[in-house]
Amino acid sequence: MDHFNYRDGTLCAEDVPLTRIAAEVGTPVYVYSAATLARHFGLFRQALDWTDHLVCFAVKANSNLAVLKLLGDLGAGMDVVSGGEYTRARVAGVPGERIVFSGVGKTLAEMRQAIEGGIRQVNIESEPEMRALSDLAVTMGAEVPVAIRVNPDVDAKTHEKIATGKSENKFGIPIAKARQVYAEAAALPGLRVVGVDVHIGSQLTDLDPYRAAYAKVADLTRALRADGHAITRLDLGGGLGIPYRRDNNAPPLPLEYGQVIRETVGDLGCEIEIEPGRNIVGNAGVLLSQVIWLKEGEGRDFLIVDAAMNDLLRPAMYGAHHDIVPVAQPGVAAEVRRVDVVGPVCESADTFQKGVDLPTLGAGDLIVFRSAGAYGAVMASEYNSRPLVPEVLVSGDHFAVIRARPTFEEMLSRDTIPEWL
Ligand code: LLP
Repeated sequence: MDHFNYRDGTLCAEDVPLTRIAAEVGTPVYVYSAATLARHFGLFRQALDWTDHLVCFAVKANSNLAVLKLLGDLGAGMDVVSGGEYTRARVAGVPGERIVFSGVGKTLAEMRQAIEGGIRQVNIESEPEMRALSDLAVTMGAEVPVAIRVNPDVDAKTHEKIATGKSENKFGIPIAKARQVYAEAAALPGLRVVGVDVHIGSQLTDLDPYRAAYAKVADLTRALRADGHAITRLDLGGGLGIPYRRDNNAPPLPLEYGQVIRETVGDLGCEIEIEPGRNIVGNAGVLLSQVIWLKEGEGRDFLIVDAAMNDLLRPAMYGAHHDIVPVAQPGVAAEVRRVDVVGPVCESADTFQKGVDLPTLGAGDLIVFRSAGAYGAVMASEYNSRPLVPEVLVSGDHFAVIRARPTFEEMLSRDTIPEWL
């Protein structure tokens, strides 16, 4: 459930008509619903209320400071994968004790930043990283809590570009080698082994891969304890999928996911950490856009809108589907037209959907791309020198611009023409 519904014939975000946001902020623009964000976060907490837990929002899904502050104030931890994300989480007011540092290629500078600023746990992804972190911690006189990310070689049954838990993927340490690596970690100064970490992919729509991966983590945890390691935390990653199509079977709910966790690792008495991103913020956001032209082609018509692949990359990058709906509610007898919905960028990849039946729309009409709150704004660029897409947060009947659209002047001010040119 989200808070984007028609009221009096106009699509609203909570109590705010999207027409109002388009008029005041312009388009394209991302619009998020605070109530939906809070609701989705609450569902994960509820799913784990049978045990000690920390829900760490995966900052990569949406790193706007206002989104992080909202979730942080509700008690969320944060899963970060870069110095930039760490900084955002801290600036949003999240204490280091609630920040988990993941990521396959952390630099020394990033690890130093986390140690200096305070960190709940570093999820180690490789042996060189582990040794470097130990050296760094010793130099800094610190003891860093660590988990080791294991790769369970499980097929997450998702898009190949976002699967991470197969042995061919770059992530984690092969689970078969884990005991040996844990033994080395325990012997290294500056590190305190606290847990096991796993993440097998994103947009999972089936719980079986989780079941398989978590069962392996449970076996490993027992083996590690027998080896003398005090494993007190399990970081079980993120990845639970969301419904991208209204007319489709919905993926499992957080509550069902929580049950799988309970069944597989619940008896170990560990504190459970999870790192959901998409499921919290995906359906809490839409991309609002305006039709520039309806172009009648040969045998097909193109609805050219002012959002483009630089604003929402997922369709071009993963062939992803985002439901497209008009802001003005179509009447029951509305004439329908089959169109390709495309952006203005000079690439054929700049196509959001082909052959979609929409009520007849023309220049100036507003549409939204649904389910765009996760991996939307964060993956946006200024390709074609299009200003970085702004973001708006709605709460009840009011809204705020939480990232302003840059002016051309601001965009150009980042470039420098060397004096010798
Ligand atoms: N934890 C780790 C270590 C991850 O790598 C990820 C996502 C997450 C948590 C959060 O997963 P989520 O709950 O959001 O599925 N850009 C792609 C998605 C890439 C996901 C990468 N890792 C997309 O637009 O579909």
